[in-house]
This record gives sequence, C-alpha cells and structure tokens, in this order.
Amino acid sequence: MTSPIAHFNGELLPLDRIAVSPLDRGFIFGDGVYEVIPVYDGVMLRAREHFERLQRSMDEIRLVNPHTVDGWIRASEALLAHHPGNQSLYIQVTRGVPPKRDHVIPRDITPTVFMMVQPLASPSREAVENGVACITAEDFRWKKCHIKSTSLLGNVLARQLSADAGAAETILLRDGFLTEASASNVFVVKNGVVAASPCDNLILLGITYELLVRLAADGGVKLEIRPVAETELRAADEVWLSSSTKEVLAVTRLDGKPVGSGMPGPLFKRMHALYQEHKAALARSRVAA
Ligand code: PDD
Repeated sequence: MTSPIAHFNGELLPLDRIAVSPLDRGFIFGDGVYEVIPVYDGVMLRAREHFERLQRSMDEIRLVNPHTVDGWIRASEALLAHHPGNQSLYIQVTRGVPPKRDHVIPRDITPTVFMMVQPLASPSREAVENGVACITAEDFRWKKCHIKSTSLLGNVLARQLSADAGAAETILLRDGFLTEASASNVFVVKNGVVAASPCDNLILLGITYELLVRLAADGGVKLEIRPVAETELRAADEVWLSSSTKEVLAVTRLDGKPVGSGMPGPLFKRMHALYQEHKAALARSRVAA
C-alpha cells in the first residue's frame, strides 16, 4: 500500500518518508500545539476559526506562528488536494529541534510543522439514533486546558478509563462542577434549557461548541453558559458531547444509568438537524462559488 501524502515543514511527502529528530521538543517535552479540522467533500468546516484558535494556543505557549491564517489555509488546501472526500485534517506545530535537552525555551529555533489527513470517522447512524454511553471521572489535568496542547497524557489517561469500561467518552468533573470530556465538550439539558460550562482555562473552547451556541441562538433554542454542577449533570434530561469529529452526539447512559428517557432527546434532535443543515449549506456555498 502506498503511504498517504502528508505535509512536513513546507514539503508534501509520503507519510513514511517523514522523519522527526529525537531532540524535537514535541517528542521530548510534548512542547507543541495542534488542531483537528473536519473536511466534508474536500471543504474544511470552520478552517479560519481553527487556525485562529491555533494562533491563540501558540500565543499562550510563546511560539511564533510560522504562517498567517491564509497561509495555513493555502497549505491545508494543497494537502487536501491529495485527499478527496470526508477527512480529518491534523495540524501540529512543535517548538522545533534545539541542540540539547533543556527545559528553558530556546531562542531562534524553527518550529516543526506537520500535517496529515485521515478518513473522517463520523458518528455511526447507530450512535446518532441511540446515543452513546459515557462514564465520569475526576478532572486530574492541569489548569491550562484552554491550550490545544499536544501534551495530552491527562486526556489519554482519562479517555482510557471509558475505553476500559466499553464507553465512548469520559466526562470530567472538577471540584463538583462539569468541565468537559477527554476529547469533547459537554452540554446538559434540563426543562428545555441547554447549559454549557464557561470557556475559561479549565476547558478547551471547542469550535463545535461555538458553532452549537450560534446555531442554538439562531434556531431559538435557549442556551446558558454558566458553571454546571455535578448534580445537574446527573439529573439532566439530556447530555450531549460535541467535537469536530463527533459533531453533536447524545449521551444516553452515564455511569451505567440512563440519562433522561435513555434515548436521544428532542433538543438533541433539533441541534443535530441544525448542525447537518449547516454542513449542507457549506457544501452548497462551495458549489455556487
Ligand atoms: N478534540 N475538548 C477537548 C479536550 C478536545 O480535545 C476537543 C477536540 C474538544 C472539542 O473541540 P472542537 O469542537 O474544536 O473539535 C473539546 C479533537 C477532535 C482531538 O483531539 O482529536
């Protein structure tokens, strides 16, 4: 099988021909940031918002962005030309390769840029129609979860808890409040009102979260952004996950107990439909352009 084309420091190469130095600070320290962008039929969904978030992550870790947003979009489109269809575009920028291992951030090294494309694993029809099971766990991660950092050990260990339990995600609780899940944001619904945790340093501000907030406002769905207590999560009529790859997905079992009726609720169905309409409109706008 031929190796898929990927991007490495400005070049398009087969993935198996890309070699990273063992001194790269991404390898040694997890010193880097990343993005995951869903691509539908060759068109990136909310590319500009993803690259603006990449800029914010880079600012937070004091990394100079090697490209403008438009430069990133051009480089992504050049790579995507090799990968038609529905894809997940992964972009990673690490601090680069210093001459020696030292925690102190080195001056004047060039960031390492890597981009690859994998087939987009959208939720199955089964998952959309019946929802998924999740478990909860203590949020034992650091206090800079707003940075989309490649240092993901906390998220990896959190996700493994649900993988071991045969569940789709691990929903995280810190000091009695909902934060997010290991690789998704979380929404709860009670009495027809949606609530989502505030976008502070304890969660990643999801591009899908932002889109859902906007679609809810446009679609007349009541949504509050405020701290959500663990008790509210456990008593919710509906719980949803959101991410670029999961879109919006209903959680119908939490820690082995049914959420609400145990089936995806009416507000989930509404938001899912609004999300699908948004995707369809994106495809139509590209055809017209
Ligand atoms: N994860 N919170 C965390 C911790 C995440 O890792 C993600 C996304 C989200 C949702 O963000 P967005 O809507 O922008 O995808 C929230 C990606 C998909 C990943 O790491 O694969």
